[in-house]
Amino acid sequence: MPRLAVLGYPVGHSRSPAMHNAALAALGIDGEWSYEAIEVAPGEFEALVRAMPGEGFAGANVTVPHKLLALAVADTASETAQEIGAANTLVFGPGGIHADNTDAGGLVASLPESPRGRNALVLGAGGAGMAAVWALGALGARVSIWNRTPARAETVRFEVTERAQRFQVQIEVKVVAPEPEPTEFELIVNTTAVGLGGEDPFTELPLAPDGFARGQVVVDMVYSSAPSTLLGAAAACGARTVDGIEILVQQGALSFELWIGRKPPLDVMRAAARGE
Ligand code: ATR
Repeated sequence: MPRLAVLGYPVGHSRSPAMHNAALAALGIDGEWSYEAIEVAPGEFEALVRAMPGEGFAGANVTVPHKLLALAVADTASETAQEIGAANTLVFGPGGIHADNTDAGGLVASLPESPRGRNALVLGAGGAGMAAVWALGALGARVSIWNRTPARAETVRFEVTERAQRFQVQIEVKVVAPEPEPTEFELIVNTTAVGLGGEDPFTELPLAPDGFARGQVVVDMVYSSAPSTLLGAAAACGARTVDGIEILVQQGALSFELWIGRKPPLDVMRAAARGE
């Protein structure tokens, strides 16, 4: 029976096992496949991954803090994983360990419209920010990055520009001044951790509760059971909102297809991820 898992540190809060096991059950293949959570410290990640194929694993999701290492450990990598410089999906096969990245595809799939030609504001310059900048930029959005620590935003801009040249992808990206004007953007993506610990997004981020525009798309990658303060305010202004669970579901569905070769039922995954 092929096994699947999510590898993280910590990983106890992950909704991926519930979501994937629900999809396996809905397709009637939960007797053949299983999906579990494995907590693995950074120092043990490589040895664990190398042992997994021998223990019956067909693949894995990789989450914080292992996404860079996952790419480094792999024998082969998809173009997207190489371009982003990180992997969230591993597939174990005859060719060894293959790395892929469905975070970018998951983000884009969760948007109500294509980002092509749109002005996008990405808040945050960590790993999630980097992946969002690449995903939106590679699809033809004009991306502005804002970060509390501007030097990190500059680093992301530099890295994305350097990779874009190396992989011959057209990407338009700049760092914005301390206080961008949010209504100038058709798309706003919060990739910062603000909200996770109950912080007020409107004191920590360059946004105001009444400063969203009707029709604007506002994405908050933070996921919790209740709608985030940020998305609540955006929706009240008439913006279209996308939460972190929808992105989790979309990236998970893409990973599922890579391992199993079948499209999972999104509604089943959504309900399971939301704990319904
Ligand atoms: P990840 O890889 O998941 O994106 P990370 O590398 O820890 O995580 O990055 C977290 C992001 O959240 C950073 O952009 C961080 O801003 P700094 O670079 O200035 O640290 C941002 N962040 C975390 N707490 C924040 C806060 N209270 N206000 C503003 N930004 C915050």
